[in-house]
Amino acid sequence: PIEACLFDLDGVLVDTAKYHFIAWKRLADELGFVFTEQDNERLKGVSRMASLDILLEIGGLTFDEETKLTLAEKKNTWYVDYISKMDESEILPGVLAFLTDLRKNGIRIALGSASKNAMIILNNTHLVPYFDAIIDGTHTSSAKPDPEVFLLGAKAVQSKPEACVVFEDAEAGIEAATRGGMRSVGVGSPTTLGQATAIVPSLEEMTYERLLQLIS
Ligand code: G6P
Ligand code: MG
Repeated sequence: PIEACLFDLDGVLVDTAKYHFIAWKRLADELGFVFTEQDNERLKGVSRMASLDILLEIGGLTFDEETKLTLAEKKNTWYVDYISKMDESEILPGVLAFLTDLRKNGIRIALGSASKNAMIILNNTHLVPYFDAIIDGTHTSSAKPDPEVFLLGAKAVQSKPEACVVFEDAEAGIEAATRGGMRSVGVGSPTTLGQATAIVPSLEEMTYERLLQLIS
């Protein structure tokens, strides 16, 4: 049985992956190296500082901790500037209908995001009322693929991991779900999300009924 659904935010409910990409690319441009959309796949679901480490590795650069904090802060200022202009129109297709259908079927809903900016996004898109619990990067100490964020989410909605299904667009997120003892639905491409229990291209036309079929 399914008691709860735990949702990643960036790339699953809203299309913020493009803003993360634009901001990281802007930083790479400033540092003088090429950063492609394909490189960006490696950053999905990964915490801010870990993302910076991957970016710098791609650019073949090393910096001390203090400089790295300044660079991450710089990227975040740009990113926050982009997401501050978001509204409901940037909720991905099918999301609101699916969340409403889950609720109608008595499924509890939690957010499990690595982002420290999750509340800005949820507020601007008016998604807050859809959640029974919100766990984001301000509540966690270990980043995905560590299962912490989803275990906290499961606990917050009083469900055991085996009664939870995680929705994720990142490889690190699918691994986090698996390590936490949860089933997962990969939202995106089978090439990156092959380890998920099931994979869908997007949440468009997703329903509770469909979910039961997918993971049974
Ligand atoms: C999500 C995104 C990552 C991002 C991370 C931290 O998991 O997929 O690309 O790096 O959140 O986000 P933040 O908003 O705290 O920098
Ligand atoms: Mg994501």
